Amino acid sequence: MSDEPAPLLPFPDTAVAGDRGISLDGVSLADLAAEHGTPLYVYDAATVTRRARAVAEAVAVAPAGGYASFALKAQSALGVLRLIRAAGLGADCASTGEIEAARRAGFDGTGMVIHGNAKSDDDLRAAIAADARLVVLDGRDEAERLGALCCAAGRAQEVLVRIAPGIDVDTHRHIATGHHGSKFGVTPAEGAALLRDLPAGLVGRGLHVHLGSQILDPEPLVAAARWLPAFAKAEGIPLDVLDVGGGLGIRYTPDQDQPDPGAHTRALVEAIAAVCADEGLAVPEIVVEPGRSIVGTAGVTLYRVVGVKTVGDGSTWVAVDGGMGDNMRVGLYGATYAPVLADRPLAQATGRYRIAGRHCESTDVIAEGVELADPRVGDVIAVPATGAYHQTMAHTYNLFGRPAAVLVEDGAARLITRREATDDLFARDV
Ligand SMILES: Cc1ncc(COP(=O)(O)O)c(C=O)c1O
Repeated sequence: MSDEPAPLLPFPDTAVAGDRGISLDGVSLADLAAEHGTPLYVYDAATVTRRARAVAEAVAVAPAGGYASFALKAQSALGVLRLIRAAGLGADCASTGEIEAARRAGFDGTGMVIHGNAKSDDDLRAAIAADARLVVLDGRDEAERLGALCCAAGRAQEVLVRIAPGIDVDTHRHIATGHHGSKFGVTPAEGAALLRDLPAGLVGRGLHVHLGSQILDPEPLVAAARWLPAFAKAEGIPLDVLDVGGGLGIRYTPDQDQPDPGAHTRALVEAIAAVCADEGLAVPEIVVEPGRSIVGTAGVTLYRVVGVKTVGDGSTWVAVDGGMGDNMRVGLYGATYAPVLADRPLAQATGRYRIAGRHCESTDVIAEGVELADPRVGDVIAVPATGAYHQTMAHTYNLFGRPAAVLVEDGAARLITRREATDDLFARDV
């Protein structure tokens, strides 16, 4: 066999598969599993930085300026957030905890946008204390609570109103958010009414829309961006700022195509500028909120095989030492993945296997029908495209501690999240 490295989709940009297995930026995945244990999240810094910069640069050149606010719900390990901040993005936070993560990673309020469909008074106070640039209102009740808190604090808060425009997107229904009946935002008519009549303490700057997540065909995202300025004009409401959310999808399996986040951001900016020219409107400041498209492709999860068995229907299960505790997406959305053996990704497959997680739920499966070369106990399985909505959704069901995470940067790996120890699991019991 040749030593020539082959590109490996959908692994991070620096991944190569050779005779000695898969490496990221020259660091062997099998070696990382041996050193740090499994399950293990591995993130490639170059992939994160490249994508974050591309989006930040594309939105900054909008005619009236703009910025990208990274959605911390997709990834909030401080070691990864610091890369995103260094690339020039702000922070999109949906809880007091995410605001604190942003602060610890070095973000200030300048590019901070606050979200949530059920913000508590504590969340709103945290937003005010962080000097968040924008709070995105999800309804009138929240506007009144925020207005009262701002008046009591003797300050004004700039706000957008989130509307659900009734645009459907081609994604799993559990991650669609902009349709009629969504729990997020208000109807366009209510949004316009709220912006016209905001409580004291709030300064209305414009509108926000976020249609959903893992959207591989970006056309509806661009259509929503085109529709909003015309809507604001028709309603006579301010649109100094237009926040078009996130939602761009990524490749989870090699056969999928992956839209380019920088090109998509440019398309959004151009569409908004064009419609404003047509409508005779000033171009608003543009905000985008990418999450998955910045970090998803940058992550790989490593597992150790703990058992292989053939069952009654003739299928063979490969059981690994992780599962729904570190990857909720299969159970939540029926997500599909393309796992490979970390040390022999190019070896001839001996069959199709089902990869089982370790949790006491039959839905705890990582992937089905996976072609592998004679998987054995002790092998390391690498699951690509796990950089978004994996570590942030991890939990401790069955009292398994949550995995560690390492960041591969400039040819070396360092621990950025330590493994949750058994003692940690009881730290809150009183
Ligand atoms: C308001 C808002 N902005 C941004 C995002 C990020 O979305 P994505 O990770 O799909 O880019 C989300 C995620 O659902 C969201 O709810």
